[in-house]
Amino acid sequence: MWGQSPRRNLTVAAAPGKAEFIVVANRLPVDLERLPDGSQRWKHSPGGLVSALAPFLRNQHGAWVGWPGVSDVEVDPFTEDGLLLYPVTLSADEYRDYYEGFSNATLWPLYHDVVVRPVFDRSWWDAYVRVNRRFAEHVAEIASTGATVWVQDYQLQLVPQLLRELRPDLRIGFFLHIPFPPVELFMQLPWRTEIVRGLLGADLVGFHLPGGARNFLWLARQLVGLEPTRTAVGVRNRPGAVQMGDRTVRVGAFPISIDAGGLDTLAKTERVRKRAAQLRDDLGKPKKVLLGVDRLDYTKGIDVRLHALHEMIDEGTVDPADVVMVQLATPSRERVEHYVRMRADIEQQVGRMNGEFARVGHPVVHYLHQSVDREELAAFFSAADVMVVTPMRDGMNLVCKEYVACRHDLGGALVLSEFTGAAAELSSAFLVNPHDLDGVKNALRTALELDPTDGRRRMRALRRQVLTHDVDRWARSFLTALGGDG
Ligand code: ADP
Ligand code: F6P
Repeated sequence: MWGQSPRRNLTVAAAPGKAEFIVVANRLPVDLERLPDGSQRWKHSPGGLVSALAPFLRNQHGAWVGWPGVSDVEVDPFTEDGLLLYPVTLSADEYRDYYEGFSNATLWPLYHDVVVRPVFDRSWWDAYVRVNRRFAEHVAEIASTGATVWVQDYQLQLVPQLLRELRPDLRIGFFLHIPFPPVELFMQLPWRTEIVRGLLGADLVGFHLPGGARNFLWLARQLVGLEPTRTAVGVRNRPGAVQMGDRTVRVGAFPISIDAGGLDTLAKTERVRKRAAQLRDDLGKPKKVLLGVDRLDYTKGIDVRLHALHEMIDEGTVDPADVVMVQLATPSRERVEHYVRMRADIEQQVGRMNGEFARVGHPVVHYLHQSVDREELAAFFSAADVMVVTPMRDGMNLVCKEYVACRHDLGGALVLSEFTGAAAELSSAFLVNPHDLDGVKNALRTALELDPTDGRRRMRALRRQVLTHDVDRWARSFLTALGGDG
């Protein structure tokens, strides 16, 4: 049933059979960018997976297998900032069918509560299988005997099983960075059994939340007939387990985090503090700055926060002379239909609000469809009075944790959707249901009018959680459990 893929020749630098710790993810931590003059350069890849894992793996001097971000290019393995990178080539058709299609127009919406309707296309599935096999073959070639391989995210759910068939000696972990859906939704997937079997190839399957682990164990029983030998339990407790022949597959919850100490240090630098002050000046010295920072994705609820602000200005509860909103939006999946439509809608919403409420030189919404570097981002976080994070569904959401890590001054307020994984940890935020517009408006109003003493108390509690539960702790708890000690 599963097709063959062309094998790549690795150069000497690839050192076949030598890597002892390997991360496998759809993307490498750097993306190849083709510039208009025909030259190329590497830039930081978008998204939370790379933000979280790259700093950890650099310290481990690990290897990373992934796609270089451009189709139809053959790139030799290379070293970047302490990491050995092994690029996997995708053709333009595979980019369309495996990445834009099955990963981002089937699995992404299905796993995010069917916020938009998933497309079930058999040729996309074939491409997904083919590309997963290529990733598995690549890893099988470079992994040393008994190596640890950590497979990441929804694009590569078949890799654990495919890799185990090729290399039974490896220790294989899998972590899902997005929500694992309710079983009623997962059961819509025509290839549901294949996906569950694919994941069961791992020794440890990790999710952000205990609910994801419980859903997976239910599916393993329902679709593969495996009785749990231990039911999935909550965070910090021992994982659940099923017996797969002579192997035990453990299933647990591991809420991901950020390089909190690194961001805290960065935000305290004079450069960032000066830049934050300058940003407020450049924004016209408003009394209050609201901030949104997201990939431009329909799950993030960017429209919800704009809508809420629009109504508040309309009703006179917010004065556009006093309050500005900054929305940073990293371009994402730009050819996928729902992303194209959502971008047009957001840009129309921004245009309408500025058309109605701006004065010359003073827009009410500053919308930047671009990525900014880490230092600039830390300055935006430091400058914002209210961080607005309103996803309809988000596996974790790292942006809210980054905001908290930057607020050593105990200033600022966080408005956070209940439907993010982070809400389970950040209970001192102003939690909102993004489907309840009045609730979002109330939370924004409370955050804008926050008493400084209450604000500091909340931020102190948030920082205690984020600074003590960083990405290093997350990775170590996963790897300890993968090693059989969790
Ligand atoms: P996702 O993985 O779905 O993109 P997360 O919130 O978990 O969502 O992670 C997003 C990451 O991308 C964060 O590290 C955030 O700082 C970064 N990011 C998002 N938007 C921008 C932007 N406009 N410029 C720079 N970094 C951004
Ligand atoms: O976990 C969400 C995720 O898909 C990650 O795999 C990745 O970090 C991010 O979103 C960016 O998405 P893409 O690789 O499709 O640009």
